[in-house]
Amino acid sequence: MDQAAKLRMMANSHQQLNPKIQKAKIITVASGKGGVGKSNVTMNIALELAKQGQKVVIIDADLGLSNIEVLFGIVPSYTLSDMFFGKKGLMDILTPGPYGIHFISSGSGVQDWGQFNSIQLQNCITQLQPLDQMADIIFIDTGAGVSQNVIQFIQASDDTIIVTTPEPTSIMDAYALIKTLKKNIFFVDHFPTIHLLVNRVDNKREGREVFLKIQQVTQRFLDISICELGFVPYDYKLIEAVKRQQPLCMIYPKSAAAQSFSTIAKNLLMIPHEEVQRKGLGDFMKKIIHLLGGVI
Ligand SMILES: Nc1ncnc2c1ncn2[C@@H]1O[C@H](COP(=O)(O)OP(=O)(O)O)[C@@H](O)[C@H]1O
Ligand SMILES: [Mg+2]
Repeated sequence: MDQAAKLRMMANSHQQLNPKIQKAKIITVASGKGGVGKSNVTMNIALELAKQGQKVVIIDADLGLSNIEVLFGIVPSYTLSDMFFGKKGLMDILTPGPYGIHFISSGSGVQDWGQFNSIQLQNCITQLQPLDQMADIIFIDTGAGVSQNVIQFIQASDDTIIVTTPEPTSIMDAYALIKTLKKNIFFVDHFPTIHLLVNRVDNKREGREVFLKIQQVTQRFLDISICELGFVPYDYKLIEAVKRQQPLCMIYPKSAAAQSFSTIAKNLLMIPHEEVQRKGLGDFMKKIIHLLGGVI
């Protein structure tokens, strides 16, 4: 059986098991400053969730700079660019990774979602929609900075993970990102839950201090309460894994950072179901297009 046939079977069996058709939970991973560890965090948490029985898909939305595939050491046959240009479908661009997870690389032809016309975007929505039944969790790994695209992704998601390091510049930029989100009128009704992850800490205490510092200022100046997702220590093993192009959680499962990723994955699964119904990928894409000013 080829890969595409396997995926189709997976989608069908999942639908039969879940007659009510559960929508996937969409989690956007963002940061103010670049290079804080978003892609490594996304990949390793995704793998830990997969180990815990979750069906996970990662969409690499760092447009033009896809690097999830480099971290996996897997060359995708096709990318999101191929789908946008109407050449390929979902089953072609879903690249299988370890532990049954899949990822979608953005490829190099997409610079900005705003570059597409409504027909291309509509085609993309239709193509991506089956992911809602195939995945329990879909991670959107974004590029650096407070770009319009990143804000739109956060607006359209169920949950957001903001990654920071203990460096003052990174803390300032994480705060600036939350402030920019707050300014957005879209959030008048429902501000998305922000889970803070502090990466590259010396110890647990430093992680806690950084969280409390950001929590204090967002509470005081923005009236926003953020949640503590956890911390990941600075770990040479992670750098070695990046160099070897193999996921840390697979080659060094006992390392301090891998243990933290496992704890964070458990924390994520313990987040109570929102009262608001899950948006799912269909709603997510529609919202993105709406925010881009398109009509569908
Ligand atoms: N916990 C960590 N310990 C040590 N180095 C880390 C850690 N997290 C990230 N790094 C380093 O930071 C680099 C950038 O990480 P990456 O996930 O690509 O960041 P981003 O996606 O935010 O740009 C990695 O290649 C690695 O060298
Ligand atoms: Mg990245």
